[in-house]
Amino acid sequence: MVHFQAELIKWYDMHKRDLPWRHTKDPYKIWLSEVILQQTRVAQGLSYYKKFIRTHPNVTSLARASEEDVLSLWKGLGYYSRARNLHKTARQVHSEFKGKFPNSYEGLIKLSGVGPYTAAAISSFCYDEPKAVLDGNVFRVLSRYYDIDTPINTPKGQKEFGELAGAVLNVKDPAKHNQAMMEFGALQCLPKNPQCPNCPIIFECLSHNKGLVGERPQKLKKTKKKHRYLLYTVFFDSINKKVFLKKRVEKDIWFNLYDFHLTEYSSPEEFEEMIKTKNTFRKKHLLTHQTLHVAFLLEDATNNKEELKSMKPYSMPEAKELPMPVLHEKYILEHLGFLN
Ligand code: ADE
Repeated sequence: MVHFQAELIKWYDMHKRDLPWRHTKDPYKIWLSEVILQQTRVAQGLSYYKKFIRTHPNVTSLARASEEDVLSLWKGLGYYSRARNLHKTARQVHSEFKGKFPNSYEGLIKLSGVGPYTAAAISSFCYDEPKAVLDGNVFRVLSRYYDIDTPINTPKGQKEFGELAGAVLNVKDPAKHNQAMMEFGALQCLPKNPQCPNCPIIFECLSHNKGLVGERPQKLKKTKKKHRYLLYTVFFDSINKKVFLKKRVEKDIWFNLYDFHLTEYSSPEEFEEMIKTKNTFRKKHLLTHQTLHVAFLLEDATNNKEELKSMKPYSMPEAKELPMPVLHEKYILEHLGFLN
């Protein structure tokens, strides 16, 4: 442990980049740099950081800016909700804390939009609080050095690596240790091309000894979401106020729930072609493993249509009692207006 800490610091002193946020203990500047660096790499983040600091040298200035101005400073970084959150946090620090950031991890983490990573970064860099940061770099370095194969994107992995990061933290200088861990991950222990031949801790690196550096860290593969294109024809008998439904029997989503008449398309092009001339209500519905692109088409059911043979009409009070997807319930409520 001591060896790891000492070698890391030695390496950092020799290789660290000269970055502006490493010359300050101003929590506003540290916070700003960390939010920007969560969004982009140092090379791109640097100019944004300088621009923000030039325009808004303190949190009160940022809090008083209009949202439009903040968004335009952020322009090009993408993921604009992050910019809105940045502004929100600035306004909170300004209004609730008189423009002063809380001076502890516990205080910082209560701020809106500040999570464990940012709170650890600010509290260690600014207040020398012994809190270990855990970002992608730290996961990589630790998983390799200790050869840990627990997937990092699982609760178990988060817990295990969080504890380990805390255990290896150099409490004599947590600020430098944390900066060094991240810098080591960013420059030496690279994701694709780790610089093992000139690594100062190569002999103790368990993954290296086992030839497993390329296998670390482990991540649980997220299965790609399947996209499905569903056209629902809602047959409605407007004279008797009855809607036609059919129980789903396929081993699929919504098994055993009641369904409108469904036509499923295998491609988005086919789906779009089919509905483009029709007056449909469209909805995107996100499930855990699937994204459903749904179009509802309301159709009169008074003349006996072929499709209705396998369906049954239900009055609104009857339909209300049947189990059906929330999506369908909402459609009935909003478009047929009888369920409640
Ligand atoms: N990435 C995230 N935080 C960083 C920091 N403080 N220095 C360099 N790279 C970083």
